Amino acid sequence: MGLLLLLHVVLVAAAAGAPAAQAWGKEGHYMTCKIADGFLTKEATAGVKALLPSSANGELAEVCSWADSQRFRYRWSSPLHFADTPEDCKFSYARDCHDTKGNKDACVVGAINNYTAALQDSSSPYDRTESLMFLAHFVGDVHQPLHCGHVDDLGGNTILVRWYRRKSNLHHVWDVDVIEQAMKDLYGKDQDAMVKAIQRNITEDWSREEKQWEACRSKTKTCADKYAQESAALACDAYKGVKQDSTLGDEYYSEALPVVEKRIAQGGVRLAAILNRIFSGNGKLQSI
Ligand SMILES: *[C@@H]1O[C@H](CO)[C@@H](O)[C@H](O)[C@H]1NC(C)=O
Ligand SMILES: *[C@@H]1O[C@H](CO)[C@@H](O)[C@H](O)[C@H]1NC(C)=O
Repeated sequence: MGLLLLLHVVLVAAAAGAPAAQAWGKEGHYMTCKIADGFLTKEATAGVKALLPSSANGELAEVCSWADSQRFRYRWSSPLHFADTPEDCKFSYARDCHDTKGNKDACVVGAINNYTAALQDSSSPYDRTESLMFLAHFVGDVHQPLHCGHVDDLGGNTILVRWYRRKSNLHHVWDVDVIEQAMKDLYGKDQDAMVKAIQRNITEDWSREEKQWEACRSKTKTCADKYAQESAALACDAYKGVKQDSTLGDEYYSEALPVVEKRIAQGGVRLAAILNRIFSGNGKLQSI
């Protein structure tokens, strides 16, 4: 996103009375990384711990929003949080993975491949701690449907809506509002309680699918393009019936929440699979 566009997003978000749209909010990223944590192998747990900054207190989940705090310091990282698409419900790497200046690979899928490759290559010049924190964040982002939303409305950022009675925008509804509502209604505002509920689903309702979430035939890259493809399709559903100034309430919430929970689950499982492969010691990304 160019500076002007970024400014635009900030202004629109400010106008909507919402914080500048970023990514899954802090909670979404925390939960994705907490779930990943539970699926890490011993090697990966040790490899991750060795790279975490001391501020993390040994917890990957503590640094999973770090990338959002760097968007102004590292301006180049701004376009790496998303991969907006035209309105065809599809993601195509060749067509969609670039920034507004046309720089190739500058989108969330390119970034996931970039930081996976960097962590896999001990001679990479990139800072390994930062690579880990970027990777953990972007695997979360690519699962947020509106991070593969439509180009024309900046992934739903310019669609101003009311979330119940509060001003928001469609992007923010998916980043933050649905999760906060669920935490308040169902989990006594405790994100760890929500993590536990999602974990229980992974081992019960979703146990059959879970292996497929991880499956990836690519020998050289991650399968992040597949995750973006899923998000682009889910985004199309998320736009249905939503117009400028729509009020979104119970009905929208009850359809969105299961999608949000599943995307957090998938993000966590897949992040763990990528990290397990990186830290397995055999170097090659064979079957993430
Ligand atoms: C790859 O990572 C480096 C180091 O952080 C960064 O400068 C570059 O912009 C990244 N490119 C992509 C496509 O993520
Ligand atoms: C658990 O899975 C069911 C069925 O897919 C879904 O309706 C529900 O919202 C999920 N709950 C959580 C906490 O993931």
